[in-house]
Amino acid sequence: MQNDSDFGATSAAAPNDGTRRTFIKQASGILGLVLAPPGLAEVERLAAADSKEVKGVSEMSLKVNGATRTFRAEPRVTLLDALRENLGLTGSKKGCDHGQCGACTVLVNGRRINSCLTLAVMNQGKEITTIEGLADGDKLHPVQAAFIEHDGFQCGYCTPGQIMSGVACIKEGHTKSDDEIREWMSGNLCRCGAYPNIVAAIRDAQQKGGKS
Ligand code: FES
Ligand code: FES
Repeated sequence: MQNDSDFGATSAAAPNDGTRRTFIKQASGILGLVLAPPGLAEVERLAAADSKEVKGVSEMSLKVNGATRTFRAEPRVTLLDALRENLGLTGSKKGCDHGQCGACTVLVNGRRINSCLTLAVMNQGKEITTIEGLADGDKLHPVQAAFIEHDGFQCGYCTPGQIMSGVACIKEGHTKSDDEIREWMSGNLCRCGAYPNIVAAIRDAQQKGGKS
């Protein structure tokens, strides 16, 4: 009686044992590489990426608008990010985050600074004033009122920084002429081009005794 191999069925329908074994071995090796679960280091890396926990945070306190606020953040956090993200004071705006637009201007110990250019940790123990702390209850600061009266804004994005800078500009005495106001307000950019009305507002607030 003839067996399958007599008709050549074995060699035509399936590889001989040696060939098939080698093929299965190679295929499982490749599949194993593709489907293998990630190693421990990879698992840790993925878990860390998913984690909300930030490494290296520490506690810091800032005195903002007369109140001391404590929070936890990385030492590298800027004053602007701490105000906005940690303390919920979103009045100070982030325009460039590079010290070029003035949208983030706040007062520190009475002096105007770009809060995106200083670290929160360096401002502990100092008096920080933001746009939220300018009004006296419901009574607007004279510079705020003047900005409304003179239409000193359009979209309003630069306005908190312009107002904080304007307050300092008046205090510094750099308001003897419109040219001087323009010069000393030149660190605050307005993409809407509301400059003539901003100058008018600062001049008016100064003339009405807008020192705070
Ligand atoms: S956001 Fe700070 S200067 Fe532009
Ligand atoms: S009012 Fe729009 S950027 Fe100044």
